[in-house]
Amino acid sequence: MNKKNIGKTLALYPCPTIVVGAFVDEKPTWTLAAHAGTVAHSHLMVSLVKAHYINKGINANKKLSINIVDESWIKEADKMGTISGNKEDKSNFFKWTKGENGAPLIDDAKISIECEMDGNYELDNFDNFICKILATYVDEDYLNENGKIDYHKFKPVLFEFPTYEYFVLGNKVGNCGKMN
Ligand SMILES: Cc1cc2nc3c(=O)[nH]c(=O)nc-3n(C[C@H](O)[C@H](O)[C@H](O)COP(=O)(O)O)c2cc1C
Repeated sequence: MNKKNIGKTLALYPCPTIVVGAFVDEKPTWTLAAHAGTVAHSHLMVSLVKAHYINKGINANKKLSINIVDESWIKEADKMGTISGNKEDKSNFFKWTKGENGAPLIDDAKISIECEMDGNYELDNFDNFICKILATYVDEDYLNENGKIDYHKFKPVLFEFPTYEYFVLGNKVGNCGKMN
């Protein structure tokens, strides 16, 4: 084996960069995140430090959006990871639209997922919100002829935790289940 043990790291990164949206006191607010993933076919999980401003809105209203970042709005998204609604009002930062289920969706995002929070697996100082998927809104230019998201066109930004760098999705390397 030619591997060195570098200890307890988050080596599952890089992961898609998302901006989470929710209402706090009737106003939208936005928080950059990358601790997120799929749990079951029906739910996603978003892991947010308890002290974050947006958690208050998710806990109160149970509705949130997950807006997937691409290069066209990475600068704006990045800003949502450097300022907190606890100190500054972020409600006017993005143009947004209310989703069919009541969560605020970012107009710049080509993909927005609308969710209902129906569980919270609290761990250390994190709320790990278990989010039921209610709807997925996709810019039609990024759908293929089968009505699926076309990842030859849509290139999510990936965040890499240990070095704090952003990447974009790379090239296709194969077709699943047909590699031999
Ligand atoms: C690239 C990036 C990824 C981040 N990912 C997370 C995350 O997954 N979970 C988290 O709690 N905070 C994460 N943060 C930090 C929050 O986005 C940041 O503290 C934000 O200001 C909190 O906003 P709020 O207090 O208005 O909710 C991330 C920040 C950056 C720059």
